[in-house]
Amino acid sequence: MSNITFTMIKPDATGKGFTGAIIDRIIKAGFVIKALKWTKLSAEKAGEFYAIHKERPFYGELVEFMSSGTIVAAILEKDNAVADFRKLIGATNPAHADAGTIRKDFAASVGENAVHGSDSDENAIIEGNFLFSSLERF
Ligand code: CMP
Repeated sequence: MSNITFTMIKPDATGKGFTGAIIDRIIKAGFVIKALKWTKLSAEKAGEFYAIHKERPFYGELVEFMSSGTIVAAILEKDNAVADFRKLIGATNPAHADAGTIRKDFAASVGENAVHGSDSDENAIIEGNFLFSSLERF
């Protein structure tokens, strides 16, 4: 089990001014920030990041949304990071997310769901490497 996960605070949440509150929740839940970046994905980069969903009907919408505004990307460290982070953010669809989770409190819909969290140790490494160089993580 790896102790690393990767997250992006998505354009809906950065645009509504939720970035600070979400980072505060992440830190208070015991995650240590190993890398952090405020940036904007091009449609090309967003498409590459979500290439695994290329055949899904929502792919175009997802790429358009993820490149529509700023994001905050981070690599996070904690024991059991991937599973614990997914618990902290709640279900992909905020309508199904548990009370007290980040998506329940900050997300509007399954498409605009405030945060991304890696779904496996392997993808956490791939996704972290996609957004961060070795000079940007500590
Ligand atoms: P995320 O955890 O970033 O990984 C893939 C994303 O696809 C997911 O969050 C959702 O934001 C998005 N997604 C999943 N299902 C749908 C859907 N039915 N319609 C639009 N977007 C979706």
